[in-house]
Amino acid sequence: MPGIVAGNETTAQNLLAAFAGESNAHARYTAFAVKAGADGLYGAASLFRAAARSEQIHAANHARVVKQLGGEATCTIHAVEVRTTLENLKAALDGEQHEIDTMYPGFLEEAEERNNTIAIRTFTGALEAEKAHARLYGEAIALLVGGQKDSWIGEARDFYVCPVCGYTSETEEEHERCPVCNCPWEKFEIIR
Ligand SMILES: [Fe+2]
Ligand SMILES: [Fe+2]
Repeated sequence: MPGIVAGNETTAQNLLAAFAGESNAHARYTAFAVKAGADGLYGAASLFRAAARSEQIHAANHARVVKQLGGEATCTIHAVEVRTTLENLKAALDGEQHEIDTMYPGFLEEAEERNNTIAIRTFTGALEAEKAHARLYGEAIALLVGGQKDSWIGEARDFYVCPVCGYTSETEEEHERCPVCNCPWEKFEIIR
């Protein structure tokens, strides 16, 4: 990659892979939100919208670090395959699980070896948010499989997204500050 400060090539490549993953997750969740709304699963649509916003924040954070390392983040946005909302939720959960179990731990390990604090910060923020997304997708899947459309998945609801790190919560005033990056809670974006 041209322009990258010597010694940071692998970290920059990992950041670019994460940038592409987050950018495509944003596109996927945005399309899944439209489908969930069409299916009358308004709460699931709210969740997809909140997660989409969170992935957008991650993508922007990763891109900023690539720039600080001397490069530029670009990627291809692939066409989204929209299926049933249950299938979309499962695909979303699979993607999150891959990032939690494999992608971010590997990228973090490399950034830690290089002591690259700006990369560590952006990878950590994303990893922690993905854990919340996975938990919420899992909950939505269980409710949908259980036929509980009268639960939160059926009704539009607020989610709270940290504007700095993308941490996502379903609870109002869960904390005074973001548990991941310490951003004041009143700055959180409310996504419905
Ligand atoms: Fe996510
Ligand atoms: Fe945060």
